[in-house]
Amino acid sequence: MSPPPPSLVVLPLLLLLLFAAVSPAAANATATAAAGAGASPPVPTPWPEQFHALMFTNLTASGGRLELIDLYYDWPGGRNLNLIRDQLSGDPLYDVEWTNGTSYFFDSGSCHSTLFPVGLLPPDWLAAGAVYLGREHVDGFDCHLWTKVDFVWYYEEVATGRPVRWNFFNGMQQHVMSFEVGGVLEDSMWQAPAYCFNGGNADTANVAADRSGSVDVMNSLTRFAGAPAAAAAASFDQ
Ligand SMILES: *[C@@H]1O[C@H](CO)[C@@H](O)[C@H](O)[C@H]1NC(C)=O
Ligand SMILES: *[C@@H]1O[C@H](CO)[C@@H](O)[C@H](O)[C@H]1NC(C)=O
Ligand SMILES: *[C@@H]1O[C@H](CO)[C@@H](O)[C@H](O)[C@H]1NC(C)=O
Repeated sequence: MSPPPPSLVVLPLLLLLLFAAVSPAAANATATAAAGAGASPPVPTPWPEQFHALMFTNLTASGGRLELIDLYYDWPGGRNLNLIRDQLSGDPLYDVEWTNGTSYFFDSGSCHSTLFPVGLLPPDWLAAGAVYLGREHVDGFDCHLWTKVDFVWYYEEVATGRPVRWNFFNGMQQHVMSFEVGGVLEDSMWQAPAYCFNGGNADTANVAADRSGSVDVMNSLTRFAGAPAAAAAASFDQ
């Protein structure tokens, strides 16, 4: 078989060059057309202003254990509470966060308080700056998935808009077992005990702070996930 004439060898190269020159614009035109046709990403459902969620929490990937956490979110009340039960531990840990920046962590015998420079997470915290990653089947539910500043991955059920699961950068996974809109905890349960206000219990403070790996991360979610990344980083450095 004789070699093909030079013009036929050159033609595929020319086509390749042409394709390479044209394709980015062509891809852009396709993307623009898709967006124009209504393919813009879905918007996350804002949290209700008050809710109670029971969360099965798995910290084993970050060296911790399993926990059950009752989350009481109370935006009009300017407060948020995590009631944390470690597996096979009888003494629950309370993490009470006030919108003025004060957080109290206490169990039956110790207390620790911290001042954060940012308030509580607003109900629409996910809307600003979240990146939509598409649909995923998780925990048996058809979900939309968003991520925010590579800090949290948030799964929301497509059919109902309820949160199903959220995962954190440190490996902590939270599965929402119940989600009760309007669920509030009686006022007396929010009150930090007297030993939070003694001022002289530095040692017991460390016991409470070290007891649960989820405390810092949960506080980070409700304090920082709504704040700009730079503000969050500055706060962690303090
Ligand atoms: C594609 O479009 C975006 C914004 O619409 C623009 O910033 C980018 O330069 C475009 N890329 C090409 C290769 O035309
Ligand atoms: C907890 O998470 C680890 C790491 O992802 C996983 O291997 C394990 O099966 C999980 N355990 C439970 C009880 O969900
Ligand atoms: C914030 O509010 C809580 C609850 O009312 C209170 O205990 C705490 O002292 C306040 N913190 C500041 C810095 O005012």
